[in-house]
Amino acid sequence: MRNFLSITDLSEEEYEDILTLAARLKRQRYACVPHPLLAGKTLAMIFEKASTRTRISFDVGMHELGGYAIYLNSKDTQMGRGETIPDTARVMSRYVHGAIMRTYKHETITEFAKYATIPVINALSDKEHPCQIMADSLTLKEKFGDLNGLKIAWIGDGNNVCNSLIMASVQTGMEIAVSTPKGYEPDPMAIKFANDNGGKVIVYDNPKKAAKDAHAIYTDTWISMGEEEIKDTKLKDFVGYQLDMPLLKSAADDAIVLHCLPAHRGEEITDEVIDSMQSGVWDQAENRLHAQKAILALLLNQEL
Ligand code: CP
Ligand code: NVA
Repeated sequence: MRNFLSITDLSEEEYEDILTLAARLKRQRYACVPHPLLAGKTLAMIFEKASTRTRISFDVGMHELGGYAIYLNSKDTQMGRGETIPDTARVMSRYVHGAIMRTYKHETITEFAKYATIPVINALSDKEHPCQIMADSLTLKEKFGDLNGLKIAWIGDGNNVCNSLIMASVQTGMEIAVSTPKGYEPDPMAIKFANDNGGKVIVYDNPKKAAKDAHAIYTDTWISMGEEEIKDTKLKDFVGYQLDMPLLKSAADDAIVLHCLPAHRGEEITDEVIDSMQSGVWDQAENRLHAQKAILALLLNQEL
C-alpha cells in the first residue's frame, strides 16, 4: 500500500495491521515508552477546509513518532494562486516524505497522488473520511473485542463518513444499517462496493428499525463543510433523524454512541445522548491519534 485515499485501499490484512499497531502505539504512549518510528521524516498537511481533530492529531502524531509536520492552508500556498495540483505534487515530493490532504473534491486528492512520488493520505474529501473510520474501528474493537458481526447503525446524512463506514464492512465483517431521509442516501458506489465484495449494508426507511439491537449508533452533522448554502433546506429535511434517548433505547443495552465530531448539539444529536454514559465520542476522538500514527508509520517507514 502506498497511498491511503480510500478505505478500499486496505486489504483485510492491512486493516488489521493498522489496528494492531495502533493499539501497540497507544499502550506505549500511556507507558511513556518512546516510539520514534519516523525519525527524520516530514509530513505535509494540506488543508482546504477547517479541522480541529485531524490537524492536531496528525501534527502531534508526527511529533510523537520522531518526525515533523508542516501545516499548509492551501489558500496561503501558490496553489491558491493557480499553481497546478500536478506541479505542486511533484515539488512537494522533493521535500517531504508524505502528505495528508483535506479537500472539497475527492478528485483533487487522487490527482495529487497521481503525480506525487510520496505516500498520500486522505484527511477527508466530499466522498470519504477513511482515517476517521480506522479510529472508529479501533474504538469498537476496544469495546467489543472483535469487529466481525457487529451491527453499526448509521442515522442521518449519507455523507463522506458514512460512505467509508459502509465500505469498511468488507474488511471488518461489520453490518452497517443505514437510515437517511430520502435524497440523502449514501453514494451508490459505496453500497455497490460493499455488496460486490462480501460486505453487509442494509438501508432502512426508518431510524428505529436501523437502530434495533445495534452495537453502536453513529451520526454526524447534517451540514457538512461546503454545504452551508443548503443548511435551511437540510435542517427541515432531517426532522425525525435526531439521535435522541428514545432512539438510543432501540439499540442493544451495551450499545455505544459514535459521532466523528464536531457535533451540532440539538440538531443531529441531543446533549443527553452525547453526554451519556454510552457516549464513545471522546475515545473515538482520542483514537484518531493512535490510528493515524499507525497509518503514518506503516506508509512512511518502509521497514515496518
Ligand atoms: N472528525 C474530524 O475529522 O474532525 P475535524 O474536522 O476537527 O478534523
Ligand atoms: N461530514 C463532515 C465530517 C466532518 C469531520 C464534513 O464533511 O464536514
